[in-house]
Amino acid sequence: MKFALFAVAFFITLSLQRTLQHRTDQTDFGAPLQFKKDGTFQISIFEDLHFGENAWDSWGPQQDLNSVKVINQVLDAEKGPGLVVLNGDLITGENTYLENSTAYVDQIVGPLVERGLSWASTYGNHDHSFNVTGATILDRERRWPNARTMRMVFGDDAGVSNYYLAVYDPACASPDVCAPELLLWFFDSRGGWHYQQKDAEGNKIGQPDWVDVSVVNWFTQTNAELTNKYQKTIPSLAFVHIPTNASLALQEAGVDGHRQPGIDDDAPLAQQAQGWCPDGRDDGTCAYGGQDVPFMQAVTTTPGLIAVFSGHDHGDTWCYKWDGVLPGMTVAGNGLNLCFGQHTGYGGYGSWERGSRQVLVTLDKLKEEQAVETWIRLESGNVVGHVSLNATYGQDRYPKTPNTKTSCPTCNYTVVTPIPGTKRKRALSDPVDL
Ligand SMILES: *[C@@H]1O[C@H](CO)[C@@H](O)[C@H](O)[C@H]1NC(C)=O
Ligand SMILES: *[C@@H]1O[C@H](CO)[C@@H](O)[C@H](O)[C@H]1NC(C)=O
Ligand SMILES: *[C@@H]1O[C@H](CO)[C@@H](O)[C@H](O)[C@H]1NC(C)=O
Ligand SMILES: *[C@@H]1O[C@H](CO)[C@@H](O)[C@H](O)[C@H]1NC(C)=O
Ligand SMILES: *[C@@H]1O[C@H](CO)[C@@H](O)[C@H](O)[C@H]1NC(C)=O
Repeated sequence: MKFALFAVAFFITLSLQRTLQHRTDQTDFGAPLQFKKDGTFQISIFEDLHFGENAWDSWGPQQDLNSVKVINQVLDAEKGPGLVVLNGDLITGENTYLENSTAYVDQIVGPLVERGLSWASTYGNHDHSFNVTGATILDRERRWPNARTMRMVFGDDAGVSNYYLAVYDPACASPDVCAPELLLWFFDSRGGWHYQQKDAEGNKIGQPDWVDVSVVNWFTQTNAELTNKYQKTIPSLAFVHIPTNASLALQEAGVDGHRQPGIDDDAPLAQQAQGWCPDGRDDGTCAYGGQDVPFMQAVTTTPGLIAVFSGHDHGDTWCYKWDGVLPGMTVAGNGLNLCFGQHTGYGGYGSWERGSRQVLVTLDKLKEEQAVETWIRLESGNVVGHVSLNATYGQDRYPKTPNTKTSCPTCNYTVVTPIPGTKRKRALSDPVDL
């Protein structure tokens, strides 16, 4: 009995210690991710949720309730994904108050916590603002044991949501003795504004909107270490809020509704390094600075990387296989698939029907052909754009995705006004959102 009590006390102390440790070193404290016994692993991507708009009006809080409903509807239809990815712009930071700007996280993850699902986030340009930032959102997420979001790269220019997660075979007893079957990479494309900083004139300070080179170096090095450790190429998927310039070049080459099914309304799309000059100025004189080239080079030379999933451009929902060099491009694609998801939130611009991209990974297909399946589940329950990202994606013919819109009389989703009384400069990195 005494021993039992002692053991319990010891265990509690240990867990507390671990929890505290995890709070500081950001180590994952959930059980490792595993494929299901049937050899599948499904990911549901919710993106551009844009919670927290116009808290002082009735329509802002109402559209957040509508967004929670979208999440519930998708999860009811899709039944137990192995992981939920929140792919950036969880919160419209321009609109939120310093004292409670991360409280929206609890509202977003409510449906996930209720279902016992775990999630992993990337942060978007609206998550980095004067009153909210990646680090404060991460702290709030980490109050929930279900959060797998981490920070593996430190440094002022790295952003926050840069990390990877490993997914193991269902028969794996412990990650110490198995090689992962799948790696999931998460990147912070930053943008927005520096947290709680103003220049001499009292203007907010813009933050670069691309994956920093320190993160690119961490990614290539860590991936090389993992390849070396397990003596094999581990198939992988990547998530980043803002797409790269390659997506723009592919779009300009032409999106075919049957070969790249999806909506293509945001043309030209907004990409990383938009609004910045090659020398690092963001004074409105340059359209694009090219700082995403190292990231593009890294993702196209990573063996086993099957697809990169982005959000940001609410009106684009296609996947495109990036093969070879496109006009004007300096980086050659290696067959990597670049995908958009579906605008999930009632916040943020646009009234395209809300929904969520699903990614289904099966161990067989992963091993035999390095392919995954993906589709979009809409709020209405309909499924659109179901494709296989396999070797012939881009040549295979699929049905076109209907461009359905949702009108919402109680919402005002096209107008986002800053907090009354605050002066706000238009974000260069953010030409379409506001
Ligand atoms: C945050 O504070 C504002 C202003 O007091 C309030 O209107 C809003 O409802 C709060 N939001 C949350 C999520 O608590
Ligand atoms: C930030 O939050 C403070 C405190 O609630 C508020 O007064 C201010 O207007 C907000 N500023 C911006 C730029 O959103
Ligand atoms: C970016 O894309 C545009 C449009 O296709 C292209 O003209 C330009 O050369 C690209 N730049 C880089 C560095 O890839
Ligand atoms: C890729 O998937 C499509 C749709 O399922 C199929 O028609 C095509 O034959 C597949 N290609 C390969 C190489 O397996
Ligand atoms: C929507 O925004 C417009 C302009 O800001 C405003 O006049 C209108 O009352 C708003 N509608 C609702 C339902 O809040």
